[in-house]
Amino acid sequence: MSSPIERLSELVIGTVESISSDEVRVMLDLDAPQSTALNTGTPTSFPRLNSYVLIPNEAGATVAYVTWIGIERSPFPKRSGLKDFGLIDLPFPLRKMALTPIGTLTVRRDRRAGTSVYDLSRGVVAFPSVGDQILIPTPEQIAAIVGAKDRDRRVRIGSSPLAANTSIMVDPDKIFGRHVAVLGNTGSGKSCSVAGLIRWSLDAAQTALTNPAQGPNARFIILDPNGEYAKAFADRADNVRLFRVPPVDDQKGERALRLPAWLWNGHEWTAVSFARPGAQRPLLLQALRDLKSGNLSGVPAEALVRRHIYSYRLLVDALLARGPAAFAGDAGPRRQCGDLLDNMAADCDAMSARLDGDPAATLTDIAATIRDVANNRRGNNGWFNSFTVAEIESVQAALQSFLDQVEDALAVAQITEDAPIPFDVQMLPDHLERIAATEGGGLAGFISTLGMRIRGMMADPRLGQVVGSEPQISFDTWLDDLIGSNASANGQVAIIDLSLVPSEIIHIVVAVLGRLTFEALQRYRRLHPDGKPLPTTLVLEEAHSFIRRGGNDEGAPENPAQLCRETFEKIAREGRKFGLGLMLSSQRPSELSPTILAQCNTFLLHRIVNDLDQALVARLVPDNVAGLLKELPSLPSRQAVLLGWATPIPLLVEMDELAEEHRPQSSDPDFWDVWTGKSPRVIDWPALVQDWTGDPPA
Ligand SMILES: Nc1ncnc2c1ncn2[C@@H]1O[C@H](COP(=O)(O)OP(=O)(O)O)[C@@H](O)[C@H]1O
Ligand SMILES: [Mg+2]
Repeated sequence: MSSPIERLSELVIGTVESISSDEVRVMLDLDAPQSTALNTGTPTSFPRLNSYVLIPNEAGATVAYVTWIGIERSPFPKRSGLKDFGLIDLPFPLRKMALTPIGTLTVRRDRRAGTSVYDLSRGVVAFPSVGDQILIPTPEQIAAIVGAKDRDRRVRIGSSPLAANTSIMVDPDKIFGRHVAVLGNTGSGKSCSVAGLIRWSLDAAQTALTNPAQGPNARFIILDPNGEYAKAFADRADNVRLFRVPPVDDQKGERALRLPAWLWNGHEWTAVSFARPGAQRPLLLQALRDLKSGNLSGVPAEALVRRHIYSYRLLVDALLARGPAAFAGDAGPRRQCGDLLDNMAADCDAMSARLDGDPAATLTDIAATIRDVANNRRGNNGWFNSFTVAEIESVQAALQSFLDQVEDALAVAQITEDAPIPFDVQMLPDHLERIAATEGGGLAGFISTLGMRIRGMMADPRLGQVVGSEPQISFDTWLDDLIGSNASANGQVAIIDLSLVPSEIIHIVVAVLGRLTFEALQRYRRLHPDGKPLPTTLVLEEAHSFIRRGGNDEGAPENPAQLCRETFEKIAREGRKFGLGLMLSSQRPSELSPTILAQCNTFLLHRIVNDLDQALVARLVPDNVAGLLKELPSLPSRQAVLLGWATPIPLLVEMDELAEEHRPQSSDPDFWDVWTGKSPRVIDWPALVQDWTGDPPA
């Protein structure tokens, strides 16, 4: 019995000579093609390293790729009867090949069409045996091997140079759904591949829309540290949202990149401020909670005031807990205590003016009580004499009377330091100082450093415009801008040009963008009636700068780089559930967080020359394809090896050509053209300095 594949005897090119678990040795027939095979119908180069051959078996055929080709000298192998008798057996060069089996091609008969249908699956079902025939695949078989016929593979990304330039198609659900890493040296074509994958996917979706009146409901968010993608999508400006550090050029459709500091959560604040776990962190988080709860719109004013009074009572509790040293000991603490009482009295009066009725009257009484206590002990030049425990307790009781009177409508627990509620970030340093003044205990130094950092950030023209609260922007507008509107009405691609984001906040910016995207999608799925996620792709270029392999930083205070890595590790682990796929691009895979790489299910490997990086990618793939990776150091710039979840067997892809105007802006400087005056470069230092320092035009 012979399978349909075996019947194609004109495709036989050799026989199996020996087999081991990882290698099959083949002797080529004397009449097997020498450089170009014509017997398949289309000219194919053969034999060629890494090209595919078939070894037929009962189920169909084992697919193998060529890992070695050579010549061995043997006695002339064929004798055609007596007529050759008497010849001397001179050594004769015989061509041999080594193969590595990688998959199985099964064949079905399509009765209606009367044709054979091939399916490729991972793994080798039946190992060949000595004497088995080796076939060159036909174009249909090659198409099945590279997956061109698979119905789910809807996006063409390139062609296979090893398989008669058959189209290589990918399934977007597989490529984007389970994280993809594009790795390779600088200039090997990563950015072009990333831009191409997005462009070709959107083009393919455009042709298959259920409602052609609407564009694709796709979402790509590109974090672009080199500022190279704006050019690649310039032709579809209507469907692209481009964010840049202000000042921006409205004419070109640029939008200001905004990441107001009130969007940051407690972790992010802790990392930016390097707050240590002991006293600093709780203090900072308390201050954030206070400020965030003071800015809830739609909440009764009484409830907001209650929050303030509540935090005052906590401060007074803390004073009493520290005992007389905090208010009756040295001059310093006495003065701090007196100042606190003065501030509280003034605040109570101010807040009373915002309320009506009983609560307002109570506040006025409280202010009076506190002022009496302070005035009682007031000395000269702003100094205070010792307070008694009873006096401080009377202040505590006064504050408590308001808490008893006004209902806690805010459900204190709901306002966490993580809530994205707008507040005036400029107030944070003052507020921290106020709390710290009573807590004492060496916090002053930390508070002043933190205060300086925050004030410095707001004052820096570049930083301030990114992280500051002005002009005001609501959280839903912000999400609409970043993740996109309903049905992607405002475009499918958001490009976030990070090239001018100051280095001191770049990690926090990337971490916050990543986290907010993740959390927004998490909540989207929770609120969706059927729990369906919103498919979104987050592209991280130059990933090694943001998700570095972790050093031994346990015990050290949290820092922004670590936070950034942890955020993306979480996205890598859990993003899939919420429809968030990562597309990473990096030239230093060996420096990437192993946790994140391990979560990437598809790899597109461009030229990789560095040993360490090669060793790393070799570890990511099963042993039997290691041979294919030996080509990595010599891949030309548009070629790449695609492997992983998106393809049953690793494929060498010649990526489709992107037109010059669709390529990301090349970072290669053109020295020669500038030197020779072919490409002019006019210098205007004053304009540059002005842009740099943010001075308004003179
Ligand atoms: N698919 C492609 N189509 C056209 N040119 C490409 C393609 N891939 C790479 N190139 C060429 O290679 C150069 C470097 O590619 P690039 O994507 O910038 O590399 P990388 O991001 O790895 O540094 C590009 O400027 C372009 O000339
Ligand atoms: Mg690049």
